[in-house]
Amino acid sequence: MQYPYQIKTLEQYKEEYQKSVDNPEGFWAEIAENFQWRKKWDKVLEWNFIDPKVEWFKGAKLNITENCIDRHLETLGEKPAIIWEPNNPEERTRVVTYSRLHKRVCQVAQMLINNGVKKGDRVCIYMGMVPELAYAVLGCARIGAIHNVIFGGFSSQSIADRLEDSKAEFIITCDGAFRGGKDIPLKSIVDDALIGNKMVKKVIVYTRTRRPVSMIKGRDIWWEDEMDHALFQIEKNNEVSFPAVEMDAEDPLFILYTSGSTGKPKGVVHTTAGYMIWTTYTFVNTFQYQPGDVYFCTADIGWITGHSYIVYGPLAAGATSVMFEGIPTWPDAGRFWDIVDKYKVNILYTAPTAIRSLMAHGLEPLEGKDLSSLKVLGSVGEPINEEAWHWYDEYVGKGRCPIVDTWWQTETGGIMISNLAGVTPAKPSWATLPLPGVQPVLIDEHGQEAHERDETGLLKGNLCIKAPWPGILRTTYGDHERCRKNYFATYPGLYFTGDGALKDEEGNYRITGRVDDVLNVSGHRIGTAEVENAINMHTSVVESAVVGFPHSIKGQGIYAFVINEKKPHDEELAKQDILETVSRIIGPIAKPDKIQFVSGLPKTRSGKIMRRILRKIAEGEMENLGDTTTLLDPAIVNEIKENRL
Ligand code: PRX
Repeated sequence: MQYPYQIKTLEQYKEEYQKSVDNPEGFWAEIAENFQWRKKWDKVLEWNFIDPKVEWFKGAKLNITENCIDRHLETLGEKPAIIWEPNNPEERTRVVTYSRLHKRVCQVAQMLINNGVKKGDRVCIYMGMVPELAYAVLGCARIGAIHNVIFGGFSSQSIADRLEDSKAEFIITCDGAFRGGKDIPLKSIVDDALIGNKMVKKVIVYTRTRRPVSMIKGRDIWWEDEMDHALFQIEKNNEVSFPAVEMDAEDPLFILYTSGSTGKPKGVVHTTAGYMIWTTYTFVNTFQYQPGDVYFCTADIGWITGHSYIVYGPLAAGATSVMFEGIPTWPDAGRFWDIVDKYKVNILYTAPTAIRSLMAHGLEPLEGKDLSSLKVLGSVGEPINEEAWHWYDEYVGKGRCPIVDTWWQTETGGIMISNLAGVTPAKPSWATLPLPGVQPVLIDEHGQEAHERDETGLLKGNLCIKAPWPGILRTTYGDHERCRKNYFATYPGLYFTGDGALKDEEGNYRITGRVDDVLNVSGHRIGTAEVENAINMHTSVVESAVVGFPHSIKGQGIYAFVINEKKPHDEELAKQDILETVSRIIGPIAKPDKIQFVSGLPKTRSGKIMRRILRKIAEGEMENLGDTTTLLDPAIVNEIKENRL
């Protein structure tokens, strides 16, 4: 597959960028010609950021799976779409060609239809990183069911909340999932989520670990049986096909829940055509993917990175993608390098937290591993610190692979600000330039476009985007007002990202981190309010305040200040109880790294917790706490400082 829209030089980048700003409709219409449509659009773009309303390629008809699979069959049918590396390196690899993928996705589509799933129905997917997860996602897309993938680190309660919010009637899960030395009981976690749930009609269970599971008659069914049956129905003369359902360009493709600064996670909704074009365009340009390259994204499909850059973007581009079930440090910290060596990976896309955790193991795990196939390295999920950047560059890329630092969000659907590998210049710890179609703007503390540079020539402000790109979220599921308030109300007429940024004189952006009460722990977004709510559910807790603190591996750690009803007899045990509660309510990924029991929290006279002070204390900044004159009880600050962990 060739990519006529692949940018090859810095000059060309500048031209394309300008075109995308001057004439977005013409620009994207031209790119859209590289996709397969059942019917072309009536209008390329309609939008306002007030309601907000964004519609790309209105009136067009398509199915994203025809673009990701069917159209490649003739030329790439026998080429690998997915190369699956199991958790246990001793276990057999699976190579899924495009024609095999087609067969499996058709089977899933038929299986879903057999079980009563219709276009527009929500299907919750809670699986480990097995190829069947990709089949499940694409099978939903083939019949127009809206998938909602939930990462395996979330608890029953989190699943229950998402099932309720999305009014899902179907679940696809596994008996268990292997991750490093663990066997996570996925089905049993789903079973707990279903206690009292009257909406879910069917639970399809794929066998991965073959641990004992409860199977409830009439509701729970085995994936293998259902897939066999589906195959029997759709196989004729050794050919398998299941006609893809025709979708409108703006029909929802999926919901993915993500944390914000208030309330429960919200269901970010992406639609079909714009998302497809955005993920493919950004994949091909950022990584400079060439036909035949082996590309390895280490993310989990439970997060947006896996949706956009394991499933949709690479497949729509006809790429070969490595999918890894395990973790970077098991059975040892050489696992990524073994995989690169084994499959001759050309492009590696991972997260700073993974790089830092591997750095901590020294250089030995890299010894004897042939990394000469690597051409491009990528980073995503959080700011990459210079030390990690240089380690990645020197020891993994051997100084000859461009590193793309890709800034984007669940809500943006795909990469927004990044250098293009080898085409536009890299700058360590800077995401650098916006992709064509992206118009960033920095807003200062007065709500105006920042224009005053500091003494080093940098502009500073809150990062907003002026105009829609094809992959922008369309709504938050079931609550459009929440979408408006969260993203479009802070600065009227702009999309507000929640991040702060710097801009240099060349127009490069450096993302400095969240400016709201959202933490980024190991590249995962967690709302402080969410963690506080979970802690407060513990029986002996009166109140709590959660802030982030710098963590050498995770980027940010979670620091919880907790007021208990009475002083615990056994502090350690009391902390363990709280951790257990957070695990139950949100999931193990939200467990605080530090819990400090306090007798009070610094509050203003009107009762507002002064998080700024707590944040400073958690960061170890004990002296310059800023203005504390408005505090109700200044003495509490000293107590907290003295007992800081
Ligand atoms: O703060 C930014 C940070 O991650 C947030 C988005 O998180 P999520 O929706 O979970 O998506 C993560 C994967 C795209 C952003 O608001 N972030 C992401 N990438 C970068 C980043 N911060 C700095 N540099 C990046 N490259």
